[in-house]
Amino acid sequence: MPAIVLTPDFVNNYLDSHLAERQVNKIQHGFPSPRFWNELSVPLDEIGEDRRRLSETHNESPVFLYIGVPYCIKTDPGKCGYCLFPVEEFQGNAALENYYGYVEREAEMYREQMEGVLLAGAYFGGGTSNLYRPAVYHRIMDMVRRLFPEISDQADLTLEGIPQLFTREKMRAIADSGMNRISMGVQQINERLNSFSGRKQTTKHVIQSLEWARELGLAANVDLIFGWPQQTVDTLLEDLETLVSWDVYDITHYELNVGGPTDFALNRYHELPSTLANLELYRAGRDFLVDHGYEQLSTYNFRRPGDPTTRDFREGYTTRFDHVDSLGLGYAAITFFGNPALPSGRSWSFINHRSLPQYKAAIDNGRFPVERGFRHTPDDWLLMLLFRSLISTDIDRTRYRTALGLDIYEKFATIWDALAERGLAKVTPERIKLVDDGAFYAPMISALVAEERYRELREQAARHRRESRGHAAAAGVTLPVPGVGSGG
Ligand SMILES: C[S@@+](CC[C@H](N)C(=O)[O-])C[C@H]1O[C@@H](n2cnc3c(N)ncnc32)[C@H](O)[C@@H]1O
Ligand code: SF4
Repeated sequence: MPAIVLTPDFVNNYLDSHLAERQVNKIQHGFPSPRFWNELSVPLDEIGEDRRRLSETHNESPVFLYIGVPYCIKTDPGKCGYCLFPVEEFQGNAALENYYGYVEREAEMYREQMEGVLLAGAYFGGGTSNLYRPAVYHRIMDMVRRLFPEISDQADLTLEGIPQLFTREKMRAIADSGMNRISMGVQQINERLNSFSGRKQTTKHVIQSLEWARELGLAANVDLIFGWPQQTVDTLLEDLETLVSWDVYDITHYELNVGGPTDFALNRYHELPSTLANLELYRAGRDFLVDHGYEQLSTYNFRRPGDPTTRDFREGYTTRFDHVDSLGLGYAAITFFGNPALPSGRSWSFINHRSLPQYKAAIDNGRFPVERGFRHTPDDWLLMLLFRSLISTDIDRTRYRTALGLDIYEKFATIWDALAERGLAKVTPERIKLVDDGAFYAPMISALVAEERYRELREQAARHRRESRGHAAAAGVTLPVPGVGSGG
């Protein structure tokens, strides 16, 4: 990576010009943005061999499993007005269960390479995973146990859903199947604000689902979004007050990502709080939760200690370092696989097909349903790890030294120094910690540490486009340019 761009002047100008800009949270994708995942043939066999070799030589190479669902109930406006994830409209249980049959077949394709691997945790997300009928939760856990006969005692096995689709019967099936946690996408408890999303969700739905979860021994997380149209500090605090008074131990507080052809971006942009108003919302939420005994585990995650049902789930980031193996199954699911012990170019991020017919056709033809991916250089993998550390707000210098043989402070010294000067980070010989508003700015700081590499990737992409156009012109055809949408 060239080391010339990140001069103190460049870094300070970057911070000055970006502190008031809207944040873009890419925790699902890490580094780089999926716009650059342009390799259409991802070598699954090679990855499988590397995976097997790593689990033989490093007896601690656990895997995290993600399973996606394409479907969501129809809303007006569409896609809840703000959602940037690829989803399809729910077409009934027959279509959903037909889809799930494909996931089982995809899981079977990974069985051999997962042999002997410990499952560290699983997340059944979406889309909307609580659309399934009760019997399907048992099928899901049967499939998980077939793929991973060994599941860590500490594994969080989380089913994500929306409040109005939980029933007591479903909740019981979720608990009986062996899943041990639910995560509810609530976004706003305030019914007037929530109605902008077109969801017919009431406070009663939220409270009722939390009661069932508690009764059945399931840990529960609630996702909220701040930066919502017309949201004020008062409505935000009322929502948090409700959750705190209902003893919700895990609260994930995302900042709204605005983009794409969503209703919020097209029709409610003027109602959105500014970035600095979002910062006020963030501070008010964080201070409220910390004052009520919650610990801030990451930019977005808050947890109150003492929940008898919870283990150690950390969404979107890991405190593990050397080894990242997160297997994604299903429509649009993402897999991350990498380890500094691998030769250069053998760490990968890749995404399954975001077209349901293509996802199914690949499996029908006996192929892994992978759409495209990104092959990481060692420096790319370093950025991938650093993005995760930044979201966790804590960069452990000793771990970087042990795993990668470098001082992460030295590598980006001008950035850490500028952040420390502004009171956004604290640097000690052991760690670099984002402090105060530093956690809010984690996505911007991630973009800054990746700035040099992003410049190279943009140049490569432009070159590739020019070459494609040249070849197409020579052949007299018009070619689509490869690229991946922004995703969620
Ligand atoms: C992709 S959704 C899937 C779960 C479920 N369908 C739901 O809507 O709650 C998972 C979480 O992502 C978050 N999310 C979705 N779109 C977002 C956006 N544009 N900005 C910030 N967070 C978003 C929401 O908090 C949501 O609970
Ligand atoms: S927010 Fe959730 S329910 Fe709404 S479209 Fe996105 S994934 Fe589906």
